[in-house]
Amino acid sequence: MQIVFLSNTSHRLLYCFIKSGIVAICYFNKGREKLNEEQLQNDINNAAQVIRNGGLVLFPTETVYGIGANGLDDEAVKKIFEAKGREQDNPLILHISDMDMLPRIAQNISELEYKLMDAFWPGPFTIVLNKIPGIAMRATCGGDTVAVRMPNNKIAHDLIKASNLPIAAPSANISGRPSGTNLKDIIGELKDKVDFIIDGGETQIGVESTVVRVVNDEVKILRPGKITKEDIEKIVSQVEIDKNVLGQINENEKVLSPGMKYKHYAPKTHCKLVYSEDNQKIVDRIIEIASEYDKVLILSSTENLKYYSIYQTIDIGSRNNLLEISHNIFSDLRKIDSYDVQIALIEGVAPQGFGLAIMNRLIRACEHDYLYI
Ligand code: TXA
Ligand code: MG
Repeated sequence: MQIVFLSNTSHRLLYCFIKSGIVAICYFNKGREKLNEEQLQNDINNAAQVIRNGGLVLFPTETVYGIGANGLDDEAVKKIFEAKGREQDNPLILHISDMDMLPRIAQNISELEYKLMDAFWPGPFTIVLNKIPGIAMRATCGGDTVAVRMPNNKIAHDLIKASNLPIAAPSANISGRPSGTNLKDIIGELKDKVDFIIDGGETQIGVESTVVRVVNDEVKILRPGKITKEDIEKIVSQVEIDKNVLGQINENEKVLSPGMKYKHYAPKTHCKLVYSEDNQKIVDRIIEIASEYDKVLILSSTENLKYYSIYQTIDIGSRNNLLEISHNIFSDLRKIDSYDVQIALIEGVAPQGFGLAIMNRLIRACEHDYLYI
């Protein structure tokens, strides 16, 4: 048995063969990997059963974790709203695993909408479509549109496929808190509220999907994400970013996406966001503001940490690697309240391309206390 396994192995394992003691460890790991895979498959099957029975499942996607339920079962979806304490007029995204699920929830899909789905699915891209009347009343808050996404994460895909249902799933967090990107951050607030948890490690992207709606052949970005305006412009020339993406919404203003209206991501600690195209200006202004307080926390890019050595800092990642910053950002926001400080000063990034998604989340975390200098 040992020899069969080793006969088609790499040099590294050949080394294991020579050092027979290590061989045992290799075997053990190989066996365990297999076991883990089996365990994961079991978990997915059990979770799919929970979804079919009307329960809630915490599961990973490539963006953030989701709290999933059968999107077509109003009673099950009601439990999501209760678990999150979510506003009753904020609809949910329905997640599908394959295109053949789409006609069960959406209709009158235009050529342009198909083109967008074709380009960005599976992936961090959600499109608001015309709904099949009468279905998913709670998930869509009784509206005549439905937001649909096909996630690019194997666990999410396999779970949806195994349950053979469109899964309604908002980000896994109590409403108003930063979205969950790893189980450690959210297990405390959600473990008693769900029926099954699938651990998929840290999510890769870290900010939620781009949400779009096609209106009169123009694509409107309602929530920016990893799929950027520039990415969409490669498919269609008319792309507009909704003005509410970075701005503040006035009371009673009508919005295309209800999620825009609500307080999001904000720590209890007062947070202030500072951005300039001139990096030195960011640093100078942050140090100037910091000097007005006794207890300060600075969320700094890796490159600027050296300027803030007398302050408590969190390294948000490299200015030159937005994916690193997006991957960390919700977890970093969740850490802020564990510091005993009067203010958290946060370095912004250029609000273009993928940076727009990061700034959209940070501006909300700072409740619009944003200095653009
Ligand atoms: O990456 C994501 O999109 C994650 C993962 C779990 O897939 N989900 C997520 O869901 O972020 P949630 O519920 O946190 O955000 C959904 C956003 C909200 O801003 C909501 O208002 C908007 O999508 N939305 C949902 N249905 C809509 C509709 N029919 N029309 C306009 N906006 C809609
Ligand atoms: Mg959310």
